[in-house]
Amino acid sequence: KTGLFTYDSGFLSTASCQSKVTYIDGDKGELLYRGYPIEQLAEQCNFLEVAYLLKNGELPNKQQKVGFEDTIKNHTMVHDQITRFFNGFRRDAHPMAVMVGVVGALSSFYHHGEDYSKPDARRKAYSRIVAKMPTIVAMAYKYSIGQPFVYPKNELSYTANFMRMMFGTPCEEYKPNPVLVRALDIIFTLHADHEQNASTSTVRLAGSSGANPFATMAAGIACLWGPAHGGANEACLNMLEEIGDVSRVPEFIARAKDKNDSFKLMGFGHRVYKNFDPRAKLMRKVCYDVLTEMGLENDRLFKLAMELEKIALEDPYFVEKKLYPNVDFYSGIVQKALGIPTDMFTCIFALARTVGWMTQWEEMITDPEYKIGRPRQLYIGAARRDVTPLDKRN
Ligand code: SDX
Repeated sequence: KTGLFTYDSGFLSTASCQSKVTYIDGDKGELLYRGYPIEQLAEQCNFLEVAYLLKNGELPNKQQKVGFEDTIKNHTMVHDQITRFFNGFRRDAHPMAVMVGVVGALSSFYHHGEDYSKPDARRKAYSRIVAKMPTIVAMAYKYSIGQPFVYPKNELSYTANFMRMMFGTPCEEYKPNPVLVRALDIIFTLHADHEQNASTSTVRLAGSSGANPFATMAAGIACLWGPAHGGANEACLNMLEEIGDVSRVPEFIARAKDKNDSFKLMGFGHRVYKNFDPRAKLMRKVCYDVLTEMGLENDRLFKLAMELEKIALEDPYFVEKKLYPNVDFYSGIVQKALGIPTDMFTCIFALARTVGWMTQWEEMITDPEYKIGRPRQLYIGAARRDVTPLDKRN
């Protein structure tokens, strides 16, 4: 069942698994979740419907949708001792460092040697992790700004509940703006899964050793943190702030093309897409809708990003190397407009990608032929040789 080994840019990249979950056609710029185009899912479904689809392979009917939402709602609170974990972190700790620590620590509360070959054990772990991620992400944010944690309010939808935990305070009731809730819900859908990207492959590899799902999610979060992966939206916004003005775009385009300069255009390029990342187009529209709703349609960074995209897509270097905007190019701008601070962007990505990670973890451990992952290498080191005694080494 393992695929062919191919040697690619320093890594033995393997078609290491078969999966029924997500399909990407990099040349066409097509992304399907269980066969459904991401464009239709983003427009017609909400995030938990998409989570249900990814996990179960079919979209829920009305009854299944309500049942799934209710199950998730039953697990949104965290064990109260978890609230004490945060005190061990500096207030200025990067929220992803907090996420790696706290999500991994969930193992000590919710994993007691369960046998995850049993559907019930998997269902419980899935519900707990997917339900608690918004609560933990919001707690990480509240801790960083010195505000008290806001507990979940289960009469709200999954995404509205998250926004209330992020932006509400005990002083006044937070009323989520439905347009902004819908926008963030679509952003979650766009990040839900993406085939065997680095963090999903990390989850599969970690989970294949029999590590419990909570520790396995922590491994995925750690990998996602990297600026070449999930950290790119934060890096992209920082890059746009550094560019500052359209007049400086040519300077940064030149740097991105300069092989002696390590600078890369953040939010551009992709290991698989050699056409437009379909999520980038949808993200640009969500971005425009949110900015318009907030009367910010002339947002400086949004205009700069659109101009940068236009100039880059006309540049022979980017055309020849098939470098297009990816999911991270606009996501930072829209999250900033939603009031989410830059260092929280990758936490939002992790929150959404958890439904994909858990689905791919379950697909892996329920594969009757799965074994512990053990990628091989192409050895290019020294040939066999004998040790020279210390007193004879020069
Ligand atoms: C995500 O895998 C996934 O699915 C990930 C993800 C998901 O949903 O899980 O889609 C999320 O991680 C999106 C990517 C976010 N990262 C960034 O935006 C960071 C900036 N992008 C680059 O770091 C880069 O594009 C990568 C890492 C994403 C891909 O790098 P590759 O594998 O080198 O891309 P490539 O082979 O297509 O590059 C072709 C050429 C190379 O130059 P040459 O070796 O041919 O001379 O284009 C260059 C690259 O150096 N290049 C860039 C560039 N991206 C690639 N040059 C300038 N700016 C860029 N952004």
